[in-house]
Amino acid sequence: MADLRIGIVTSSDSCSRGDHEDLSGPEIARLAEERGWTVVGRHLCADDAPALTAAIVELADVAHADVVLTTGGTGFGPRDVTPEATEAACDRMAPGIAEHIRAQSGAITRRAMLSRAAAGLRARTLVVNLPGSPKAVREAFGFVADQFEHAVEMMAGAGHE
Ligand code: MTE
Repeated sequence: MADLRIGIVTSSDSCSRGDHEDLSGPEIARLAEERGWTVVGRHLCADDAPALTAAIVELADVAHADVVLTTGGTGFGPRDVTPEATEAACDRMAPGIAEHIRAQSGAITRRAMLSRAAAGLRARTLVVNLPGSPKAVREAFGFVADQFEHAVEMMAGAGHE
């Protein structure tokens, strides 16, 4: 099992103000550590695109995360800008990951179609948007996490086995 380096970004106005406790960021950390991966950095940001992009870039370029997982800010609310912040941080998009999460999540809740989540690559870092609630984080992570190790190997230039 590869020891992936994981970065975590929570997008939430209320959590960044301290009005609510961030439960979803810690839930991602728990899920990652359960797989034997290492959390190398965490950011709690307001729903603000430049701040979110900067957090993703720091985790990728400075903390050298293999995978950056975001939570929140993927819906239709006027301040939901995580997909746009993700696109700004990425050189190439990886739509299949977000499509797979939406497709699988649709069997759990029809609201999954209201997720605008994105995924993409910034150099050798994979960035994946997860939804906002801890329950949705667990579900979405479970649908795609088994492919992260292979994705990271491919970003490093390895061929298919
Ligand atoms: N995906 C899964 N697997 N489980 C969920 O409960 N909730 C949906 C959707 N995706 C959900 C899900 C809902 S209610 C919304 S509004 C969108 O994700 C966006 O969530 P966000 O704005 O918290 O990021």
